[in-house]
This record gives sequence, structure tokens and C-alpha cells, in this order.
Amino acid sequence: MKSYHLTYGGGIDSLVLREHEIPKPGWGEVLVRVRATSLNARELMILRGDYPLPVKPDVVAVSDGVGEVADIGEGVTRVKVGDRVAASLFPLWLDGPFSFDMAPQIGGSLDGMLTEFAVLSEQGLVLIPDHLSFEEAATLPCAGVTAWHALTGGRPPFPGDTVLTLGSGGVSLFALQFAKLYGARVIATTSTDEKANRLKALGADEVVNYRTNSDWHAAVRKLTGGRGVDYVIEVGGAGTLQNSLKSVAVQGQISWVGVLAQGEPAISLAALRSAFATLQFIAVGSRAQFIAMNRAIEVNRLKPVIDRVFPFEEAVDAFRYYQAGQFFGKIVIRHG
Ligand SMILES: NC(=O)c1ccc[n+]([C@@H]2O[C@H](COP(=O)([O-])OP(=O)(O)OC[C@H]3O[C@@H](n4cnc5c(N)ncnc54)[C@H](OP(=O)(O)O)[C@@H]3O)[C@@H](O)[C@H]2O)c1
Repeated sequence: MKSYHLTYGGGIDSLVLREHEIPKPGWGEVLVRVRATSLNARELMILRGDYPLPVKPDVVAVSDGVGEVADIGEGVTRVKVGDRVAASLFPLWLDGPFSFDMAPQIGGSLDGMLTEFAVLSEQGLVLIPDHLSFEEAATLPCAGVTAWHALTGGRPPFPGDTVLTLGSGGVSLFALQFAKLYGARVIATTSTDEKANRLKALGADEVVNYRTNSDWHAAVRKLTGGRGVDYVIEVGGAGTLQNSLKSVAVQGQISWVGVLAQGEPAISLAALRSAFATLQFIAVGSRAQFIAMNRAIEVNRLKPVIDRVFPFEEAVDAFRYYQAGQFFGKIVIRHG
């Protein structure tokens, strides 16, 4: 079997394909024949060397992968051979709040899914929705679960609430789709008119171009009659947080997920205080959240947005394509 390994901070050129014997699952472990993986911002952070969690040397790349159970070790009861499963990004985080002893993560301190076969703990697996192909389901573990957690991890939305999503990355597109399941109104920001049209086609009620309107918070306030939004799914970080604080309603919630917009002023304490909102930091999510999200996806026949699928042999091209930033939806790698 073949696996792509990487070197932390080594850039895309450090991705190398190695051959191994197919491993045997031990007690409580499952051998998964991986059928598809997808890329997330974390993969580029690891290759750049600015990922906040530990990454082991020569790790098998990529957190997000799905496949079918090919063999089970002794003591396994949660899955059987032939089941279609996904790996939970934090396999030790089963339920409840996050703690640092649950920080080992697939494609970081643990080997990842850009491989033909993976041995995983049965505890870190979830069944994938029946109506999704392997390629579609491969988009869920990081971006999907993070968006689900960001939206539902505090007070879940009520119909009629307003949710603000930033940009059209993987987390933001899932947040838009999930917010619509809750009957919320969605205001999205993006960088181009073409993406604005695609966001509207996906269900966004209003779209604000943050490139042509750097004071986009004022447009968001106006669209909410001055009240502000109930939720912000904050993926920009220091570069957008100040505007998010100016966009949120009193007692609204900002779920801070990421740091896409770097190098701009950090927030002021005065802005934080006067927002009268809750600011919570999100770390992907637990297995229980993954299962709850899958149930919502299955019942509502929700389909993830895929930009492009690359074959396993062209995985390095998939990374280069992702790094170039010209995409709308997830970038997926199809394994044999
Ligand atoms: N805390 C966690 O556990 C966790 C989990 C998942 C992701 N994250 C983080 O969350 C962020 C988003 O992840 P992702 O996977 O969704 O990323 P992604 O798919 O790579 O998102 C890329 C998109 O973000 C948008 N973007 C870029 N700069 C922006 C800016 N200044 N303001 C608003 N949007 C901007 C662009 O869309 P437009 O052209 O439409 O603006 C771009 O196409 C990343 O920083 C990632 O590391 C954190």
C-alpha cells in the first residue's frame, strides 16, 4: 500500500509517496480501506510550519478521510467489515467539552488519511450518511464538524435568527448550509461578485463584498435594521474580528474558528466590551457532534459543495491547486 508522508514546515515539496505492508488491526482497532480524502487550511499550515498543535515527524498527511472497514481487530464492536466510515479528527474526543488530553489529531500527532489503508481506533470512527458518495463524505470531518460546532455548540439558532458567515471557504459554506437547516437568515461576505452569486444559489439571503467594502460591518448592520446578527462564524481572525464585533447583536455569539485574514490590527478591548456578545473559540468537534451533524445531513439530504476531485496519484497537484486559492467548495482526492 502507498501513503503520502510530509515534513512539518517542509512545504508541498516535502510530500513523498512511500510503500508499506498493509497493517493488521490490533485490539480495538479497525483497518479502513481509504476511498477519499479532502484538504483543509490545516494541511497548508502544517506544510508552512505554523500549525498550533504538535505534528509528528514524517506523518502520513491529511486529517479528513473516509472509506470502508476492511478488517477489525479483537474486541471491536462499534463497526463491522463493509461499513462506510469517517475518521473523527480528534479520535479521543468522544463527547462533552474539549480538553488538552484529547488533542492528539489525525494527520498531525497521529498518522493521517492520505493513504490506501489506515489502522484507526474504533472509538474514533463514525458511520457516514448513506446518500453521500465517499468523495462527498470526505469533506465532513474538519470543515463540516467545525461549522456544526460553531453554530450549535452554544445556544443553537432559532428560525429567524441571522447568521453571518465570512468568505466562501469550507467551514463557511457548511455553516451557511447548516444555518439554512435551522431556518436562519444568512448574510455572507465574499471577495468577488461571481462567488456572491454562487453563495446566493446555495441559500445566502444577502452577500456583502468585503473587498469593495472594507466597512462591511456597516452593511451588515444596515441589513439587520441596525440590530446586528445573532451569530458570526469567524474564520478571519485578527483581520476581521474587529468588524465582526461591530456586526454582532447584543447577546449574540461569535464563534472564532480561524485566522485566514492575518496581519491586520487585533481587536480593542473597548470593542470587545461594547459588543455585549459571547466570544467562543472552536476546535473542530467531538465524535458526538460528528454523529449529530451526520444525522442532520442525512435527514435533510444535504450535499456538500465540491470544487474539484483529484486522483490519488495526483495528490500533490491537489495541494498546489488548493494553495493557489482559486476554488469554491472542497478539494477532494479520490483513492483507488
Ligand atoms: N479552530 C478549528 O478547529 C478550525 C477548524 C477548521 C478550520 N479552521 C480555520 O478556519 C479557517 C477557515 O478554514 P477553511 O477550511 O474554511 O478554509 P478554506 O476553505 O481554505 O477557506 C478559503 C477561503 O476563505 C476566504 N477568505 C480568505 N481570506 C479571507 C478574509 N480575509 N476574510 C474572509 N474570508 C476570507 C476565501 O473565500 P472568499 O474569496 O469567498 O472570501 C477563501 O476562498 C482557517 O483559518 C482554518 O485554519 C479552524
